[in-house]
Amino acid sequence: MSDTTLKATAAASGASATERFLSDKTGAPARTADSERVNTLATEVITAVHDVIRRHRVTYDEYNALKSWLISVGQDGEWPLFLDVWVEHVVEEVATAGRRGSKGTIEGPYYVPGAPVLPAVTVLPMRDDESGTPLLFQGQVTGVSGKPLAGAVLEMWQADDDGLYAQFAPGIPEWNLRGTVVADAEGRFGVTTVQPAPYQIPTDGSCGSLIAAAGWHPWRPAHLHLKVSAPGHEPLMTQLYFQGGEYVGDDVASAVKPELVVDPRPAGDGGHQVTYDFVLDPAS
Ligand code: DHB
Ligand code: FE
Repeated sequence: MSDTTLKATAAASGASATERFLSDKTGAPARTADSERVNTLATEVITAVHDVIRRHRVTYDEYNALKSWLISVGQDGEWPLFLDVWVEHVVEEVATAGRRGSKGTIEGPYYVPGAPVLPAVTVLPMRDDESGTPLLFQGQVTGVSGKPLAGAVLEMWQADDDGLYAQFAPGIPEWNLRGTVVADAEGRFGVTTVQPAPYQIPTDGSCGSLIAAAGWHPWRPAHLHLKVSAPGHEPLMTQLYFQGGEYVGDDVASAVKPELVVDPRPAGDGGHQVTYDFVLDPAS
């Protein structure tokens, strides 16, 4: 892929992530926050910033650089990217502390509800010439007691072999490599897809300039996203990573957990196959 294509699509992804967030997620939670809670959290965040300024003797030049950077994060539409990369993993850790069953991890900015509904044995929607190693992803959804969960639903979404997501990077068909898979009466599923490529945080926007200025790298390891749900159980939001893949040990979004790393085996047809079982905690 040419540099220009990569840049154009990366910039568009940031703006689309902001539009998606605004259409899906604002409203209800903000209205329920009580003022004592807002007071506590806002005061502690602001105080933490004051502490950093004192400890590191932050200058007016640095303060003004911060101001203009914060303004540009909004102008670039990159708040969802920034928060999901550097903050969400701790929110997920707190939200799922004490939960039994399979490990979860961050949602990230690229989930879209309502992907095409597919049967238990299926192929994710893809282009005729979709590139990437074919992958058969199969397994079973059970409760913590081991009981198979009939009619469990697995919402899946992933980047393609260029590390780009349909509905966010232009030029990819709607719902490409996205689906809502309904498991069978034993909670089993078998989904044919392609292995995704590592994902690069857009380098041409504000998050990219922070990464460059700090000397970090912009990569997430290749991953499959999943939301697994079944009646009477806590929904599981998770991702799976590939053993030995680049950045598995060094994810910019700090979202890899050892339990989420799979090791696909050759499937005989040049592709790979992997089995992963999901265990859901009963709803509290
Ligand atoms: C981001 C992208 C992802 O694909 C992901 O899983 C998490 C975060 C991001 O760009 O913020
Ligand atoms: Fe992702």
